[in-house]
Amino acid sequence: MTATFQRLWQEIAPIGRDSKGGYSRYALSAPELVLRDWFRNQAARRSMNVTEDGNGNLFAWWGTPWGHHAVITGSHFDSVPHGGGYDGPLGIVSAFLAVDLLRERGITPAKPIGIAAFVEEEGGRFGVPCLGSRLLTGAITPEKAAQLCDADGITFAEALGAPPAGALPDLVTRMSAVVELHIEQGRALDDLGASVGVASAIWPHGRWRMDFTGAGDHAGTTRMADRQDPMLTFAYTVLAANKEARLAGAHATIARVLVEPNATNAIPSLVRGWLDARAEDTATLDRLVEAVVKRAHERASRDGTTLAVEPESSSPEVAFDHALRERLAGILGGAPILPTGAGHDAGVLSAHVPTAMLFVRNPTGVSHSPAEHAPDEDCTAGVRALADVLETLA
Ligand code: GLV
Ligand code: MN
Ligand code: MN
Repeated sequence: MTATFQRLWQEIAPIGRDSKGGYSRYALSAPELVLRDWFRNQAARRSMNVTEDGNGNLFAWWGTPWGHHAVITGSHFDSVPHGGGYDGPLGIVSAFLAVDLLRERGITPAKPIGIAAFVEEEGGRFGVPCLGSRLLTGAITPEKAAQLCDADGITFAEALGAPPAGALPDLVTRMSAVVELHIEQGRALDDLGASVGVASAIWPHGRWRMDFTGAGDHAGTTRMADRQDPMLTFAYTVLAANKEARLAGAHATIARVLVEPNATNAIPSLVRGWLDARAEDTATLDRLVEAVVKRAHERASRDGTTLAVEPESSSPEVAFDHALRERLAGILGGAPILPTGAGHDAGVLSAHVPTAMLFVRNPTGVSHSPAEHAPDEDCTAGVRALADVLETLA
């Protein structure tokens, strides 16, 4: 079984890999399109029909496509820039292998099983995470999604080849359950000595674009006292975000930045940074973001700069279906149940369908990095666990 996992995993391992072992598989980019072709081939090999929902999400069907009471599994192919290979693809590869395992067991599911490949889960290309599942469920309008731009000015609609379809409530109501398998993005399972766990909750989180504007000028001739340097306000805000998050027992990160003109010898006129903030509950998250923005404004007034803050996406707190998660933990012999600070398409779908997640042990806990890794034996345990769960649900 482990050899079977390794074989299938090796098929996708080279796709989108860079020289340092990381992956840049942006949504609808060349490597992701190769993965989507691979998905269609895997489905064809298993005589599964593939449907596309007009939003960029693919579904491979065992049983009637979009039949009633469908059980949906799968995940996403896209990665963050130079990320790991497991975040997303593990859920899709495991889903195909779980179908194989159920067939070996002689199972014929009473309900259709759909393997999903959701588009733009990371928001690494168009900025809004879980874009495909948000569109499908109506959490973002197709008009807004269509206009989202990548770094080269290509819109989501252009990359997709057509304006997105938007909400498909008729299809969503045909789902009876969603189960996304995912590499764990922490060390909890390793600490507990378990290869597979079940998700309890996702922390509420969001992204805020912060534009720090100042006065571009000469680095050699502008007196220090005369400067309106937005880099100073930005730098202070990075430190303030870190401090406020620590005080709140929450997470805040500014990891993406754009500088204009980005010249060694010019004081910047604009620094644009993106704040990613997450907390255990919504009130803490709101207080955290408010505190960071307040301190950034105070600093801006001292620096003679200005600050504009624009929320780019918001992901509410998710408590996965209690009965379903207990049922899954039971099927898996008392698997541990744990929360996560990471966002997932399953979180978006959980507002509409009984939804659960399975996590596979990640011994270092590292994710969104080339060092992200799950041992083959644990991935195999994940496939078995997913098969057990699908057998019961479908
Ligand atoms: C997705 O991985 C996220 O939580 O950023
Ligand atoms: Mn991710
Ligand atoms: Mn993911």
